[in-house]
Amino acid sequence: MRILSGIQPSGVLHIGNYFGMMQPAIALQAQGEAFYFIADYHALTSLRDPKALRENSRRVALDFLACGLDPERAALFRQSDVPQVTELAWILSTVAPMGLLERAHSYKDKIARGIASSAGLFNYPVLMAADILIYDSDAVPVGKDQKQHIEITRDLAVKMNETFGQIFKLPEPRIHTATEVVPGIDGQKMSKSYGNNIDIFGAEKETRKRVMSIVTDSTPVEAPKDLARSTIFELYSLFATKNEIAEMRERFQKGGTGYGDFKKELFEKLWLYFAPMRKRREEILADKSYIDNVLSRGAKRANEVADVVMKRVRAAVGL
Ligand code: TYM
Repeated sequence: MRILSGIQPSGVLHIGNYFGMMQPAIALQAQGEAFYFIADYHALTSLRDPKALRENSRRVALDFLACGLDPERAALFRQSDVPQVTELAWILSTVAPMGLLERAHSYKDKIARGIASSAGLFNYPVLMAADILIYDSDAVPVGKDQKQHIEITRDLAVKMNETFGQIFKLPEPRIHTATEVVPGIDGQKMSKSYGNNIDIFGAEKETRKRVMSIVTDSTPVEAPKDLARSTIFELYSLFATKNEIAEMRERFQKGGTGYGDFKKELFEKLWLYFAPMRKRREEILADKSYIDNVLSRGAKRANEVADVVMKRVRAAVGL
């Protein structure tokens, strides 16, 4: 089985990225041949600062490795180290119906948030389809916000296969219901662009501040509290054991504990959870050439596979 996923280096990684994609991707790396990349071409649709793009890309590599990506099992590389994806994106774009791209939620959301529209932003799903198809991927671990992009990928693969003969496999999204949409401190989907993120490797003081500012209702301390709409409980459930979750559930329902106390418990759990990863991150940072070595090995492996698939595509379409 080939497993593939990507992450944009548009900022610092948050716990939505972690539970939605990184943790499932790390869990899958032992089950097949994994390809994980830093989507720097995609990030260009919103980030136009070369120094920041370069630094963010390295930091994503560092954070992913610190969280447990094993470069002996998974190829980790920059998207732009496999420029063949842009060739495939062009070929796919020649069969991509405009209507299909016009219906893409993520494009519509970005425009609604005031991001200037560009052909790159509009074509974003086509490049993403190329990312997936160029490695003959079977499984794509992602959060729910990427589901439609994978459906578009499948549509484009089918269109190519119908037009030019069997070229591509159809990839399957891997989305875990429990972590498909991790909420941010305001209860909306966690996203850097909404400013509601809690970062994986944020400083202690800032992380505590963010957790303590999770939005709650105004239920008094002594009263029972609504579990169903509690961001605190939802986030705590990601970090705690079954018993700990059951215990917090009971205290929510019983009343007598204030939201402030629950938030402190969430912070402690979260901080402890990432402690080994913070340590590993320091170790990686101490080895100056480690990240570059991993990325160049990953790029080599990714190029080998991409070259094989592109040969097939070029032959099939007549180039
Ligand atoms: P990106 O960089 O926005 O996010 C990376 C991954 O994190 C997941 N994610 C979340 N999951 C649950 N809850 C959240 N609050 C949350 N926030 C982010 C995303 O679903 C994603 O899986 N277009 C992609 C990058 C990409 C890609 C690809 C992914 C480019 N090519 C090919 C897979 C395959 C993106 O912008 O992800």
